[in-house]
Amino acid sequence: MKIFLDTANLDEIRKGASWGIVDGVTTNPTLVAREKTGFRKRIAEICEVVKGPVSAEVIALNTEGMIREGRELAKIASNVAVKIPMTPDGIAATKILSGEGITVNVTLVFSSNQALLAAKAGATFVSPFIGRMDDNGDDGIRMLSEIQQIYGNYGIKTEIIAASIRHPKHVIQAALIGADIATMPFKVLEKCFLHPMTDKGLDRFLKDWNNVKDLVDDR
Ligand code: G3P
Repeated sequence: MKIFLDTANLDEIRKGASWGIVDGVTTNPTLVAREKTGFRKRIAEICEVVKGPVSAEVIALNTEGMIREGRELAKIASNVAVKIPMTPDGIAATKILSGEGITVNVTLVFSSNQALLAAKAGATFVSPFIGRMDDNGDDGIRMLSEIQQIYGNYGIKTEIIAASIRHPKHVIQAALIGADIATMPFKVLEKCFLHPMTDKGLDRFLKDWNNVKDLVDDR
């Protein structure tokens, strides 16, 4: 499973990239607004740090506006994925942009039917929001599983991004289902590293080593 960071914060992206395990980045208008910097400038900066897909979202609500914005965003860097909302206008824009060879990530997906339509329109990625589904009293993981099965039934090539991830368990559940990608906030990625037994074990190794260091250290 590929790991994407769901952030527009450059420090977080640089840190994640330094670990060598970040395959891409997703942003959305909320995440970029939080950074209080130019949108296009920030997307270009992220594309310099991470060579995998970097999702940048359109703001327009009609097909024509989305296509215009999408073409402009795609010019920022070759690894930009244009994020398009899951609406009838968005699906029409996805069809056109995908037909032009532009990478499209259909976002705000909350049902398997929506994911099916995104794939039909030629989206490279589809982003089901599992955390927001859970927040709403629904079952995001069940939706993810359904999409995985439906895509499998028809050999659909659209890659599934498990999005709106809230905690490390979501990451494990997405991986068990076989989602292509999990995009997560930096703090969730950090938590994926942690286990108290690892810290305890390391502490014990170092204590034991230091006790007899003079006898065994010939390195
Ligand atoms: O970027 C899309 C998605 O991951 C947003 O997540 O945490 O705002 O529900 P969240």
